[in-house]
Amino acid sequence: MLDKNIQLAAQWIKTAQHTIVFTGAGISVESGIPPFRGEGGLWNNYNPQCVELGYFTRNPKTSWPILKEIFYDFMGKAHPNPAHIALAKLEKTGHIKWLITQNIDALHQSAGTKNISEYHGTIDTLHCRLCLKQIQATDLKWKPFPPVCFDCGGPLKPDFVFFGEMIPVKTMETSLGHAQIADLIIVIGSTGEVMPAAMLPGVVKHNGGRVIEINIEPSNYTENLSDCFLKGKASEILQRLTNAVLNE
Ligand code: APR
Repeated sequence: MLDKNIQLAAQWIKTAQHTIVFTGAGISVESGIPPFRGEGGLWNNYNPQCVELGYFTRNPKTSWPILKEIFYDFMGKAHPNPAHIALAKLEKTGHIKWLITQNIDALHQSAGTKNISEYHGTIDTLHCRLCLKQIQATDLKWKPFPPVCFDCGGPLKPDFVFFGEMIPVKTMETSLGHAQIADLIIVIGSTGEVMPAAMLPGVVKHNGGRVIEINIEPSNYTENLSDCFLKGKASEILQRLTNAVLNE
């Protein structure tokens, strides 16, 4: 059954005009980064209030040790896995036109993907909340702690989107624009629980496009939205799918 579905999905990818990809935390699990929800999910062990804008602003000393541990000590040191690499290859061969990721780990770019919207921002940079200076995460010395602006000493905030924070307008517009013209979307490793990102596959479907989903278990999309559900690990399924598309 899986083999048959991979062949079907490959056929759709070969014939679509504007295929886009939507990824969530599941694609980075095989790079050693735990997902947020489900088995081994970060939010089972950490309180997500550390990434709520209001809480973070009022309690930097409680939030920062958790942010540092999750997003800088750990996530910042991960490498792309075969799933990220397969998607970069499909972009290069012209089969994928745009990729929208909810992930902030920059692993798609490390794998070579160029046409990308980082819907929830990135861990790569931070900015000063007073003078707005942008700082590279690799330049952080972590002393003093919590870290402060190199120029004015103001508080720093990572450039990923916190709960209670707006998605940058340009990112929203670009992502929505691609979803509106896509005739195929490949949804990989997302529970589909966090809005507004979670609505993007629905936009494609609403406009008559098809939905391929890759996940180790059913998500919010599987029952109502997915036309072809490929159950399994992102790296394994995407390598097989890429081979089928490229006849390798
Ligand atoms: N291959 C494919 N899918 C996997 C794998 C794997 N190896 N491992 C786990 N998954 C699936 C899980 O079954 C789950 O459906 O990945 C999904 C991860 O879901 P979430 O942790 O909810 O991740 P995501 O949907 O990206 O979360 C959305 O929530 O906290 C916020 O800002 C954060 O961008 C994030 C947003």
